[in-house]
Amino acid sequence: MGVNIALDGPSGAGKSTIAKMLSEKMGYIYVNTGELYRAIALYMIRAGVDIQNDGQVEENLPHVEVGIEYSDGLQHVILCGEDVTSQLHTPEVSMGASRVSAIPAVRSFLLDMQREFAKKYDTVMDGRDIGTVVLPDCDVKIFLTASAEERANRRFKELQEAGDSSTYEQVLADINQRDYNDTHREIAPLKKADDAVEIDTTNYDLQQSVMIISDTVKKVLEEKQSKQESKTPRIRDTIDFSDVRPVTDPKKVNPIRLFFFGIVRRIIYIIYKIKFKMVYEGLENLPKTGSNIIASNHRSYRDPVFAALRLHVPCSFMAKEELFKGNVLFAWLIRFLGAFPVARGSGDMTVIKEAVARLEMGRNLVIYPEGTRSKDGKLGRGKTGVALIASLAQVPVVPMAISFKGEKLRFREKVIISFGKPIQPEELKLTSSDIRELKAIREKIMNSIAVMVDENVNKL
Ligand code: DC
Repeated sequence: MGVNIALDGPSGAGKSTIAKMLSEKMGYIYVNTGELYRAIALYMIRAGVDIQNDGQVEENLPHVEVGIEYSDGLQHVILCGEDVTSQLHTPEVSMGASRVSAIPAVRSFLLDMQREFAKKYDTVMDGRDIGTVVLPDCDVKIFLTASAEERANRRFKELQEAGDSSTYEQVLADINQRDYNDTHREIAPLKKADDAVEIDTTNYDLQQSVMIISDTVKKVLEEKQSKQESKTPRIRDTIDFSDVRPVTDPKKVNPIRLFFFGIVRRIIYIIYKIKFKMVYEGLENLPKTGSNIIASNHRSYRDPVFAALRLHVPCSFMAKEELFKGNVLFAWLIRFLGAFPVARGSGDMTVIKEAVARLEMGRNLVIYPEGTRSKDGKLGRGKTGVALIASLAQVPVVPMAISFKGEKLRFREKVIISFGKPIQPEELKLTSSDIRELKAIREKIMNSIAVMVDENVNKL
């Protein structure tokens, strides 16, 4: 769809001259729809059709071939292969156009053609019903008026210059008659659209009118654009992501560390096997190499252990800053196990950089997108942080679900730990800073966790 400006109003309000100048100024195409009705009237007059007879006009419509061409920026109306532009403004054709334009078949005959233009081009389209019927969703709607006397005055001068012998009184009577016809017809009557800006040009000359209208158009378009922009929420604009690179060449985890990790996790596995009835599912989904994000629901402080017990490579996980400030030994232990602190409300960028750095080190990263523990096992909405890290780091995300009955995990209680199919980096790409994209990635991750949480409920 192009950008479309509707310029509606009664005959002689100066629409065509203004629309022409405006379209030149804006580099848009000018579509004078009145001339299309005029061309149909001309056809009917030439063919000797009684234009007061709707049936006869309708019967002859299929023979009418009307089109628009542009040369030197001017609209030319082609009627059955003939350029009739210069014959469209006689009083007879004017009155005929007013008459045929009240016939529904004529209006629908021209409707598609007008819409087609608006779809293809940026247009300034003048007429009577552009803002109300033809393009009700167009970008700007102007309703141009002027007193009947002033309009008659302008048209009278034009006709005189063209050598027409009509008197002022006749022109005024014509204008009044056409106003009456255009506003009283049943179908698509001349009417200001509710959202149109009304501009009365009675006291303005042409230059002034064009200036006022083009200022109005500019203002409306700018307002629309800024509304549009404010409707597109951006990812935390103040954060500078430029120095976070995707993880392309992760380091290998030190083999000695890997060896000890293997031993420790096996020992703890045996202890946990005694304490809980652990059931692991989807282990085949766990990558053998590191640098993956494991995104899990959060049920207990043991959750990182449930993940680490089956990972082939050590993992890092985020932990509340407070945990590092209390007991020194405990702080050392969780740090040793791969935890790193997250300060609530601090600049998220530090955390994101740290998370990506851990992935770069070849470690897996366990994240709990919900942020806090769920007591009843219901999955929360999840924060967008996980999506941000995944999209910046460009590493696979393995969804994980931990399920057990009740609020606390008791001795010998059944706990199901499932891993889902990894979501690949291609599905985690951000193409713009529109926050809706980030939210869509979060949804993807949360949904894949949710599916497993739901399935596990029936197996507990
Ligand atoms: O704008 P104009 O005076 O050239 O239009 C000629 C006639 O066509 C006018 O009397 C009303 C009719 N018309 C219409 O009904 N709808 C339009 N969109 C344009 C013109």
